[in-house]
Amino acid sequence: MFTIVRREELAGGTVILNEIEAPQIAKKARPGQFVILKANEDGERIPLTMAETDPDKGTITIIYMVVGKSTALFRDLQVGDGYQDVIGPLGKATHLEKVGKVVCVGGGTGVAVLHPITRALKEIGNDVTCIIGARTKDLLILEEQMKNASHDLRICTDDGSYGHHGFVTDVLKEVLNQGDIKQVVAIGPVPMMKAVSALTKQYEVPTLVSLNPIMVDGTGMCGGCRVTVGGATKFACVDGPEFDGHQVDYDELIMRLRAYQEDEKKCHEEYCT
Ligand code: FES
Repeated sequence: MFTIVRREELAGGTVILNEIEAPQIAKKARPGQFVILKANEDGERIPLTMAETDPDKGTITIIYMVVGKSTALFRDLQVGDGYQDVIGPLGKATHLEKVGKVVCVGGGTGVAVLHPITRALKEIGNDVTCIIGARTKDLLILEEQMKNASHDLRICTDDGSYGHHGFVTDVLKEVLNQGDIKQVVAIGPVPMMKAVSALTKQYEVPTLVSLNPIMVDGTGMCGGCRVTVGGATKFACVDGPEFDGHQVDYDELIMRLRAYQEDEKKCHEEYCT
């Protein structure tokens, strides 16, 4: 069993942070890699990119939004309870390089995935601007941590309750217009990554995105996580999860992510009643 040693509720309880004892994973994990978790014997396997690892303490931290039955099962686990299975680290680590001016763009719980990457990019000497967004102020997560991890933090909310009133792409455009941006990293909802990539393509700025398709085995055998990148089929679990944002077929990804939406909704309703 993988014991939960810290549990926090963020964004009004819709987002949960779990710090979990997993010493072997904590020792090997690099920014950008993910784990697959199962709450119990009958639980669904859920892939989540690690928000933090602490090799000295032997823990990893995951942050997730409660959206269906499986994440509701996760939410019910308290400190001292454990996940039956945590497999990882999986996927390729982020390619980190000193390139100069970098912009990290995060939306929703994607901010949690972006945090260790942003910090690592700063640590190796890049000038890092960070733009994070949420639908409303209450749903914004890790503001303080992202402030510390970057040189300049900009905030956006869709409803204007905090920071810039509008989308992360509005602020990104302003930053890109200042010139000299060498790389953009965008992690968040698929429509956000699609919009960011469309914008940065106009400016010819290389853009990395982290994809989170439906996964089953996480080892490249089932094909469940297939995505089309540059016209070729890739498996996000072994070829990713990060890809060139200008090459991803986002419409196909959105369609595949919706495949079980109705079943998920039904299971969640049944579990909660
Ligand atoms: Fe099965 Fe990637 S999850 S091939």
